[in-house]
Amino acid sequence: MQVIHTVSELRQRLVVEPTVAFVPTMGNLHEGHLDLVRIAHEHAKCVVVSIFVNPMQFGANEDFGKYPRTLQADCDKLRSHGVAVVFAPTEADLYPQPQQVTVEPPHIAQELCGAFRPGHFRGVATVVLKLLNIVQPQVAVFGKKDYQQLHVVRQMVEQLNVPVQIVGAETMRAADGLALSSRNQYLSPIERTEATFLYLMLMEIQHTLKNGVHDYAQLEETAINALVSHEWQVDYVAIRSQKTLLSPTAGERDLVVLAAARLGKTRLIDNLEVSL
Ligand code: PAF
Repeated sequence: MQVIHTVSELRQRLVVEPTVAFVPTMGNLHEGHLDLVRIAHEHAKCVVVSIFVNPMQFGANEDFGKYPRTLQADCDKLRSHGVAVVFAPTEADLYPQPQQVTVEPPHIAQELCGAFRPGHFRGVATVVLKLLNIVQPQVAVFGKKDYQQLHVVRQMVEQLNVPVQIVGAETMRAADGLALSSRNQYLSPIERTEATFLYLMLMEIQHTLKNGVHDYAQLEETAINALVSHEWQVDYVAIRSQKTLLSPTAGERDLVVLAAARLGKTRLIDNLEVSL
């Protein structure tokens, strides 16, 4: 496995590869990321993983500074998962000059997480497009845990005619249902026990929807109240269309329940698809 830090070296290395499958990450890898790598292997012999904590997608008061950077441990994991190349650029490699050209994401990027993290999806879309242009993979794998991110990336690739197939991977969960996330390690032991409640609320909504209840606003409000009574600070609980991420139209059957909420200082997101 090669660890490459510069764009020019990476381009030179990949020129000999007929097909590449790509997994973009911010590092601090857990089983969820390694599952994306496994899926990437189904699509190409050469798997490239990028590790870059992208400053452009963090707000001024967010956790960019404390986001865990564990390159050596990440490389050890990737080596044992058959990854050909790790691309770990520095900020100066990826942003050699102020990034004035950016991707304007679709309107949906202003809603859900976008309403609470202004500019986040512009930062994500811009870095993902840069990485896709640098790596030029045939396939790129993203987790469904970041459901809105996956939607924005799919829209960007479609509307900007980027020649890559985007593959969405199911969320990996701990035994108690908590979605795996690098941010889980910010949780205290008590918070970690409580954290599974977010998933339980999504399951409850999923169950109620399947039982034929369609008062979405009421279901969202009930879940928000339950979370608040457990001392969560809730950004949103929302039932949306899987296809558009907008509020479902009458009779729409493929839904997704999304939530974002803070436990102490840690912001967690999760979602569950529901097909009626
Ligand atoms: O999901 C992530 O880890 C990041 O948002 C991504 C896609 C690597 C872009 O920085």
